[in-house]
This record gives sequence, structure tokens and C-alpha cells, in this order.
Amino acid sequence: MPKNAMVCLRCGHRALQWLGRCPDCAAWDPFVEEPPIVAKNPKGPAKAGVTMLIGSVDPEPCQRIGTGLAELDRVLGGGLVRGSVVLIAGEPGVGKSTLLLQAAAGVEELGRGVLLVCGEESVEQVAARARRLGAPRRITLTPETEVGAIVPLMHGTDVVLVDSVQSLRASDSAGEPGSISQVRQCAAALTEAARDTGTALVLVGHITKDGSIAGPRALEHLVDVVVTFEGDRAHHLRTVRGIKNRYGATGELGVFQMGPSGLSEVPDASRFFLAERHKDAAGSAVGCIIEGRRCLALEIQALVMPCKPPAVPRRVAQGLESARVGVAMAVLQQHCRIQVADYDVYASVAGGLRAAEPGIDLPLCLALASSRRNEPIPAGVAAVGEVGLAGELRSVPGLPARVKELFRLGFATVIAPGVQGNNGAGDMGETKGAKVVGATSLGQALGILSRLGH
Ligand code: TYD
Ligand code: MG
Repeated sequence: MPKNAMVCLRCGHRALQWLGRCPDCAAWDPFVEEPPIVAKNPKGPAKAGVTMLIGSVDPEPCQRIGTGLAELDRVLGGGLVRGSVVLIAGEPGVGKSTLLLQAAAGVEELGRGVLLVCGEESVEQVAARARRLGAPRRITLTPETEVGAIVPLMHGTDVVLVDSVQSLRASDSAGEPGSISQVRQCAAALTEAARDTGTALVLVGHITKDGSIAGPRALEHLVDVVVTFEGDRAHHLRTVRGIKNRYGATGELGVFQMGPSGLSEVPDASRFFLAERHKDAAGSAVGCIIEGRRCLALEIQALVMPCKPPAVPRRVAQGLESARVGVAMAVLQQHCRIQVADYDVYASVAGGLRAAEPGIDLPLCLALASSRRNEPIPAGVAAVGEVGLAGELRSVPGLPARVKELFRLGFATVIAPGVQGNNGAGDMGETKGAKVVGATSLGQALGILSRLGH
């Protein structure tokens, strides 16, 4: 029996004993003994036996440092917090180094001291990129990757950005750089130094598509904030998502666009996602999701084509959960008599966004039905709502906000869960010419759509 817990190299799952297969990610033989973290108590030795009333504790207001990137700052809860650690996890090539450099430039321009640890690329490569992106020349760089050499540099520096945590080395820990023991030890040592010095620390961590490289997953419990940086290399869209935040809400989404001069922010993401929509194409429906505190309008596209036996019908979902697409097809088939079972079905969120919430059920079903019947959805009509297994429409949180966003974008009719002909959801900012049409079932929603089309 090992002295330390065992940890899965693939997903960071911890077990008390060696297991042949990880119960979390189902990888075979991924367990290694978890190296102990040699770190002091970050808050210093606590006095034994002290208790206090929660109301008597004065909460420390956290001091924020802006990165100059409003989309990133919002996901962080208002900027970087002194003495805290942020982990930015993303696949190689998504643009993490670019984001870090632009954040360094923003911090510097706001008059704060910033240090960029260049572990992945040489300082010359980073400097060349900085010139190309027009970043200020006063950003301090270091090629040091030994943690013992980086810690003293943190004193007196407001923000330290490390690219990447997998490139760091701790001489007092076993293993190669990037191994789980090295990554954990380096992150723990830098975290402790950040707490001591009040420096805001940002660590970049690589993950692969299945999240399998040791590192970021094993660091999540150690750091204060975890954000993922995502994007398909074939698309310009890049998103920052908060998945853990000790200093703010999670679930916030920041939207960027990658272009020849680096990342640019997309403040009106709804218009961005609808920009290339073909209004009169069959199989296109507009919906609205809530990400954090923001409503985002998006286009759901579907293509339903006959599949000749003996071929097995294909189902392809991009940016949507495949189970959700399966349920939408089953409900259309069973409750609305729209035959889709023997058809190839492709469904996606236009623009490369990932949408995983029940509010897109209704636009997804309408897009599938529209493609199957080859009847475009009338321009100016959008839809919001969850579709239940009985074909009923179910309400979704934040309906008034979603409807307002769709009205702002010029949609005149929004089909939403409610009593038919009456929205039943209070004030949704209806104006002259713009209205919410309530429906209680998917069948009713389809009926409303065909009446609107004639
Ligand atoms: P990079 O920041 O190096 O990614 P990561 O650190 O996550 O591996 O950027 C990767 C890609 O971004 C690269 O393939 C080229 C593209 N890119 C642009 O399109 N425009 C730019 O201005 C920059 C700097 C990069
Ligand atoms: Mg990089």
C-alpha cells in the first residue's frame, strides 16, 4: 500500500489505492503515486483553538488589477486579484501565448509592473511577436524556468504571467518538466510565493482535446481561478470560460476573434454570431442562450437528408450535445409526425460556439423541422425554450432577458413557452411591432410558425 494517494495522470482523479482503471475517465493503468507538495501553510501558522463569529470577520476587499481586455476581466470577475492564482488552460495553438502577451501589454499600459516568464518560446520569439502586435516595449521578460529563480523576481512585481506551467522545473522535485510531480510542485511553490508577495499570478497550462495531459486538471484544486481558452483553429472565434472562481461568478464567457494582429475583443457577440446568417435558408433558426450574466443570440443550423438503406443514418452534432439532438429528433418523430429517423441529420451552432443549455431545444427542433420540410423559418422570427420528452415546451431561466436581446437585434416575433397567444412571463420589453408568442408544445410552436409563414 503506497504512503501517498494515487492520482490519475489523465484526469487528476485521486484514489486511496492503485486501481487498474480510472473510475472517472476510464483510462487503463493511469495511476501513479501522488507526489507530496512541500509547501508551508499559505496563511502562516494558525493559532490553535481560535474561533470567531462569521459576522465579526471583516471580509478583505480584494484588490483587482485590470488586464486591459474587458472580455477577460469580466470572466475573472473584474480583473486579476492580488495574491491569487489564475490558471488558463487550453489546447496547443489556440492562442494562449497571444492572450498572455496582450494581457501583459494591457497591465503594463495601466501602469502596473508585469513579468512574462517565457518557458515555451525564446525571449527573441516573444519579442518578435510583441513587435508585430504593437505591444509596449516596457514588458519585462525572463527566460528562467527554474522555480527557485522565478520566486525572487515576483517580489515587487504586480503581475507575473507564466507560459507555461509545463515548461517549469523545480530542482527539488523528481521527474521531467511537464510531469505531474514537477507541474504540481512548481505550481505549489509559485502559488505560495504569490500569496506571500501579493503578486497576481497567471499560469498557462496545456491540455489536449480529451484533457489528457497531466497538469491543468491536477492543478484545479490548487489555484483560485480556472478559465479555459477554447476555439477551433479553423474558425476565428476564441472563447474564455470561467470554470472555477473563488473571487467571482463562474460561467462567464469572454468572446474574442483571432486575426492577423492578434486577438480582438467581440463586445457584441450576438451580432457577431448572426452576421453571416442566410435569412431565407431552410434549416436555420435563431435562439438565445445565457452565458454568465450575458445573453447571446445564436443561429442553429440543421441539414436533414434522406439516407438510403442499407447505409446507417448519420448523426453529426457540432457545438451541440449529441444527446440533445437525439431527443429533439425523437420528439419531432413521435409527437409531431415529422419523419427524421431514416434521415442523415447534421446540426450545428454557426460560428463555432459551443451551446449546452436547454433553451436551445426549441430553435434546434424548428431548424430540424425546417430542413426536413425544406421550408425556411420566416425572417424576424426567433425561438427560446426547452422541449420535454412529451413534446411540451418548458420555461427556461431568464426568459425576459433573452427576449429583450432578440428584440434588440431586430427580431419581431419570439416563440417562447407560455399560454398560446399570451407570453405569460411579464414585461419582456415588447414594443410596437415586436411580440412574444406563447406556445405550450412543440406542435403548437410549429403551427404558429406555419401561420406566420403564410
Ligand atoms: P499561440 O498564442 O502561439 O497559441 P498557444 O500559445 O495556445 O499555443 O497562437 C497560435 C496560433 O494563433 C498560431 O497558429 C497563429 C495564430 N495567430 C494569429 O492568427 N494571429 C496572430 O496575430 C498571432 C500572434 C497568432
Ligand atoms: Mg504558446
